[in-house]
Amino acid sequence: MIPENIKRGNFGSRFGFVLAAAGSAIGLGNIWRFPYVAAENGGGAFVLLYLVFILGIGVPVIIAELSVGRASQKNPVGAFRALAPGSWWPAIGGIGVLTGFGILSFYSVVAGWTLGYIVKTLKGDFLGGITGEESGAAFDAMSQTAWVTILLTAIFMLLTILVVRGGVSKGIERAAKILMPVLFVLLVFLAVRAVTLPGAGEGLRHLFSFEYEKITIQVVVKALGQAFFSLSLGMGAMITYGSYLQRKENLTVAGATVAGFDTLIALLAGVIIFPALAAAGVDPESGPPLVFVVLPTIFDSLPMGNLFGLAFYVLLAIAALTSTVSLLEVVVSYFIDERGWRREVATWTFGGLCLLLAIPSALSQGAVPWLSEFMGMGFQTLLETIFADYSLSVGGVLICVFVGWRWGIDPALEEIRRSGDRFALAPLWRILIMVVCPLAIAIVLGFTLWSQFWGA
Ligand code: TRP
Repeated sequence: MIPENIKRGNFGSRFGFVLAAAGSAIGLGNIWRFPYVAAENGGGAFVLLYLVFILGIGVPVIIAELSVGRASQKNPVGAFRALAPGSWWPAIGGIGVLTGFGILSFYSVVAGWTLGYIVKTLKGDFLGGITGEESGAAFDAMSQTAWVTILLTAIFMLLTILVVRGGVSKGIERAAKILMPVLFVLLVFLAVRAVTLPGAGEGLRHLFSFEYEKITIQVVVKALGQAFFSLSLGMGAMITYGSYLQRKENLTVAGATVAGFDTLIALLAGVIIFPALAAAGVDPESGPPLVFVVLPTIFDSLPMGNLFGLAFYVLLAIAALTSTVSLLEVVVSYFIDERGWRREVATWTFGGLCLLLAIPSALSQGAVPWLSEFMGMGFQTLLETIFADYSLSVGGVLICVFVGWRWGIDPALEEIRRSGDRFALAPLWRILIMVVCPLAIAIVLGFTLWSQFWGA
């Protein structure tokens, strides 16, 4: 018989795992979504809440998901089935699989834009001076041309399919290992450039100054949703990754390291975008296009800017790819483990179906008016709100309830300690997972529902 760990494929090393899990976490969520959602939702107030949520909810929950995955060695549905046989919990895993599918659809549209920007830099579109306004027009020309944005989305989906088809350690690990550190160095460099732009101080103040009055229920929900989205939590991606993790690895250190890098990268992106925004005269509330409009103006202010731009978009596309791979992997591993599909077939089928769902998102940036105004926010933003903000938060409550009350904190701790980890913070973690996190998330969600239906 083939031993379990060889059959499923394992990460070669802790370093490889941390990089691959960080590869899932670090992506467009940090560089594209964090700056635009922060800019729309009160700047510093949002950032502070986000940090509180990462530390108080994100880190405990990532440890919980990893422990479920490693204990069960299964995809989200199988994990619940293995740890709570005969219950309705596997259905919750099913919602996670569906959420992964939904996120992948709108995410791959934005990922497609990064490919578009690679082409733009190759063509030299940003050479010789570009204003914020011209940059905005260039973005619109790309995102509002139906065939261009659909083609870009399709190419990105194809890349994702090709990586996922190859299986875990061959594809994901190898790419993540080399490229994430390079992206990090480039971001630090760009941050240094951005903070020395004229007017940078004002942008930084907007990012970091905390104004109590700016906290509304919408800001709180967005910060919570972004914390889950950025860490790839709440839908079982980390359960799936945990299932590939070897017993000797330290879960708590791995989880905290991933969260640390992820947060650092989001903050770096903020430090790049906020100062540059002011310098280029771009509207902070320009929504999803924000990063794509602002960045070319920074590259423009650098010697050999086009080359930096090219390097940046290539790395961003790869960061996005390590995230889309983790999203598709959740869906695919479910169909392989639970339904007995072949990897090849599952990958092509669900990658292809997801592309179909991505098309209305791709067309909702102005290419097709009724999709762009769908339910007052546009199809893509609607999917983002449903899947990123709500579904992940609900998933977060459920995973806490599952680990805290159904499977049990003690078996979870036993799994965590298998590596020899003492986990001195275990008593704190116990309270967080059993009481504080699920209650805090439920209260936030409850308030949102309440304000939707009965509030202003
Ligand atoms: N965390 C990724 C990002 O910030 C996106 C992502 C990948 C994700 N896998 C996920 C989000 C699973 C939620 C769940 O770009």
